[in-house]
Amino acid sequence: MTIENITVLKQDPVPIYKQIADQISEKIESGRLESNEKLPTHRWLADKLSVTVGTITRAYAEVERRGLVEARVGAGTYVTDNNKPTWLFEEIADDASECNFSYNIPPRLDRSDMLKQAMQRISQSPQHLNQLMLYQPPAGFDSHRTIVSQWLKEKGVHLDVNRLLFSSGAQHAIQMVLDTFTRPGDTVLVEQYTYPGVISLARQNQLTLKGVEMDDEGITPESLEVCCNRYSPRFLYLTPTLQNPTTAIMSPQRRQAIVTICQAHNVYIIEDDINGLLLDSAPEPLVNLAPDHVIYIGAFSKCLAPGLRVGYLCAPEKLYPPLVVTLQNHSWMISPLLIALTCEMLISGDAERNIVMIRNEMRQRMAATTQVLGAFNLRYEQGGFHVWLTLPEQWRLSEFVQKAAESGVIVKSGELFAPPGGTVAPAIRLSLSSPQTIEQLNVGVEKLKTLLLSNPISEFTL
Ligand SMILES: Cc1ncc(COP(=O)(O)O)c(C=O)c1O
Repeated sequence: MTIENITVLKQDPVPIYKQIADQISEKIESGRLESNEKLPTHRWLADKLSVTVGTITRAYAEVERRGLVEARVGAGTYVTDNNKPTWLFEEIADDASECNFSYNIPPRLDRSDMLKQAMQRISQSPQHLNQLMLYQPPAGFDSHRTIVSQWLKEKGVHLDVNRLLFSSGAQHAIQMVLDTFTRPGDTVLVEQYTYPGVISLARQNQLTLKGVEMDDEGITPESLEVCCNRYSPRFLYLTPTLQNPTTAIMSPQRRQAIVTICQAHNVYIIEDDINGLLLDSAPEPLVNLAPDHVIYIGAFSKCLAPGLRVGYLCAPEKLYPPLVVTLQNHSWMISPLLIALTCEMLISGDAERNIVMIRNEMRQRMAATTQVLGAFNLRYEQGGFHVWLTLPEQWRLSEFVQKAAESGVIVKSGELFAPPGGTVAPAIRLSLSSPQTIEQLNVGVEKLKTLLLSNPISEFTL
């Protein structure tokens, strides 16, 4: 093994763990240690170099911090797999010959009139238009923040308007939080299967993500307690309502248990509630339970239109001012014109009407899907966009995803949702809102059913 010729110089002023970490890093960067190669156990390398196991643990942690290796639960430390699929935006294609279940977007209903009318209403006041063309303070107009917080209050989300900040969608809100409060090498807790946008941000910011085990409701209090003790994190990112990808919704009791543990360990919760607005009546968000412990994130991307790029966050008093500075550093402010258009849609009732249309459409799509795929291991919630389908045992994940694509059905592999080093669920995510029409969806689920019932092994042995 290439790692065998590592040497340490005890009299060198560079700490020993760093000498080891530097040499491993160099071997990976020069290609002498290959993608996916397993590093020796801590004990083996410690004995070989006559250093303590603790020194090797520190060296491996340092290389992990550099993003070059990943510790896989119960399996050891591996060179980061560069061929692993990463999360990249794909242009939304309208290819009628394929059925695409991969886009996490609202169903493509006609929203042109809603946008036209909002634009017309805004354009009636030259004074208003002129104001929208100016620089604003980073937190934006008070009137806009009041409209959004009022609208959310009617939906049971209680946010302090003075601690509300607009963002360019929820992804940007998460980025602002991580940029402001974390440093390379920090550990952030996430759900065992999590939103790929967070995995991507963590990679860029050189953060280590640790997955908290989940059950049918989302993360479990037992696993959270263990992870808080083991990693002493400052942040937990989670999606308590319509979790992406598993669709889980946390019960009120579970929410309280999670908040209590985070309070006891001084962990701030980054609550991503982007899907909460899709439900008729969602359980109370965590921010209502502990406003001083939760950074609440939302956006109009799923319930209205992702193209508006309007999101928001609400932070505890202590954390709010640095976030405002970050927004200013990123882009000075969020375009007031886009926020004004969004607010027009909220005030006019068009946003609510749009949500009702989405719910009706999703009800039909969910019924059509479960009618065909109901016999398989599915997880879904009425109102959500997704189905989380655990594959029958005869199928290997990558093989299934590839075979589905060959038959013109695009699905998201469970691999995309595993934080580095975490276990991969043998499951796929189907976004039922993604196919352009319900007819396309029907064709897609029929093809999936045929594939799920087939046996790849027998194909090879025939
Ligand atoms: C859980 C979750 N959070 C955040 C986002 C990002 O949303 P936005 O388009 O508002 O940036 C998504 C998008 O798919 C998501 O699923």
